[in-house]
Amino acid sequence: MTSDRILVLAGSVRRGSVHGLLARHAAATIDSAGRECLRVDLADFEMPLYHGDLEAEQGVPGAAYRLAELVGDSGALLIASPEYNGAVTPLLKNTVDWVTRIDIGVLRDTYIGLMAASPGRLGGTRGLAMTRTWFENMRLIVHDDELSMPRVGEHIDPSTSGFDSEASAVIDDYVNGYVSGFDEYCQGVPSPD
Ligand SMILES: Cc1cc2nc3c(=O)[nH]c(=O)nc-3n(C[C@H](O)[C@H](O)[C@H](O)COP(=O)(O)O)c2cc1C
Repeated sequence: MTSDRILVLAGSVRRGSVHGLLARHAAATIDSAGRECLRVDLADFEMPLYHGDLEAEQGVPGAAYRLAELVGDSGALLIASPEYNGAVTPLLKNTVDWVTRIDIGVLRDTYIGLMAASPGRLGGTRGLAMTRTWFENMRLIVHDDELSMPRVGEHIDPSTSGFDSEASAVIDDYVNGYVSGFDEYCQGVPSPD
């Protein structure tokens, strides 16, 4: 049976990362819906830039094995990631590349959700589109809807350093829709035995 647990991570480990905040907010929303959630910080899973010689000489990093195990024990993966130059962040790409060196199918059957925010007016939509195409090329399952938050700086409440009420409502709505999508997906997934 598919695990109910939802893994949440951010594609930026910068101190003060907006996507770290988005991941924390989303995890709290999932928790308050009474659902099992585990938020991981990729800063705790440091991996060198993928290089075939490095892999041949030193093997896959232990952090990739630890993360692959967490992914394998979860049914869903919610990602909050910025776009860099209209594309995926190197951190997210590198992390997925290493983890798939353990098992190309590690994310197969994982229900993936995508969220992005941006200081600009496009809200990370180009990175979201690229991430969706990338994951669909890998034959992964991506929730139909995406969260894109433009002009994110205007939605952070300086008194709490969290999202303002307008942004919080948009995030909660997305997360709840994603969780419902995960439930529907689980109902349609046949048990392995
Ligand atoms: C290398 C680089 C490229 C970026 N390219 C884009 C971009 O294409 N579109 C965009 O909206 N923001 C872009 N940004 C700005 C990021 O959206 C912004 O720094 C965001 O806060 C990063 O997310 P974080 O706060 O979670 O680290 C870029 C930032 C960096 C460092």
